[in-house]
Amino acid sequence: MSYSQYEKCKPTDSFRGAVGGYDPRNALNQWAHRSCALSRFGPSKEISILDAMAGPGKFGNMILEMNRNKVGGPKIKMSFNDARLEPLLGLQSSGAEVIHSDIRTLAVNSAFDIVIERFGLKDLPYGHLANALDRIRNSLRLNGRLVIADMFAVSEKTQEAAISIHAAEQRFAGRNEAVDGICHIPTIEGWISALASSSFRASVRFTRARGAIELSVFKSWLKSESEYVEKMDMLFSAIADACNRQPNVAIEYGIKLAGTIEKTTISWPYAVIVGEKI
Ligand SMILES: C[S@@+](CC[C@H](N)C(=O)[O-])C[C@H]1O[C@@H](n2cnc3c(N)ncnc32)[C@H](O)[C@@H]1O
Repeated sequence: MSYSQYEKCKPTDSFRGAVGGYDPRNALNQWAHRSCALSRFGPSKEISILDAMAGPGKFGNMILEMNRNKVGGPKIKMSFNDARLEPLLGLQSSGAEVIHSDIRTLAVNSAFDIVIERFGLKDLPYGHLANALDRIRNSLRLNGRLVIADMFAVSEKTQEAAISIHAAEQRFAGRNEAVDGICHIPTIEGWISALASSSFRASVRFTRARGAIELSVFKSWLKSESEYVEKMDMLFSAIADACNRQPNVAIEYGIKLAGTIEKTTISWPYAVIVGEKI
């Protein structure tokens, strides 16, 4: 199946802000929320959701916020997971349940109605997704669902080059590849077959390329100004190399190499995919 066959999943979306942010109006967040299908639970029910690979929990808290004044929906207990303790501390002190664990060794059985994850699973190195999905499946109750809001590689042909660009972005942000390995971004087919291999029933709810962002936005990830020139050079070279190696990359990821590094733009495609535990 090709990317264009998933284009039909696109909703009409007038929101023009960054899709990677936490604005509940953006299409990725709306589709992630919609895909939780909270209306299947009555108002008398308290349900448990795990925000997996949550960082400081902004995604899970956004989902809570989107339901705060909803009449007729279930009461939500949101728990948060991350491999790093530091981002969980603020959530813990505000009274939320936190699960400090690598997702690949999450040791929770049949506790959640829904697991949500955004921009986390693609951080795992090649071959590690199955472990994470098996552990997530185990943490879900029967008929529970995993809602994935994450990146995808547009085609197998450009997958390696796309991964090399995202890996450079992550090095830019401080990822230590010697410890954490290199990210792996599945194609849509890759996500579906990984879910099926872990005995989920998979369905694609949404795919869309995000509006082009300029590389200058990554500056906010840096701790010091002095790193800027060196890291921008590294990032720009990685993008230019990937585009040279595999010319379709520039087309599929909307890469426009501009005269200045800061003005170079890229459009990562994102998807919402649901895995139901049946
Ligand atoms: C890009 S952030 C996404 C955070 C959040 N989901 C969001 O949308 O804002 C990825 C998070 O995954 C966490 N992470 C990376 N590898 C992990 C693992 N193996 N197990 C659990 N968490 C992990 C990182 O610590 C980081 O907080």
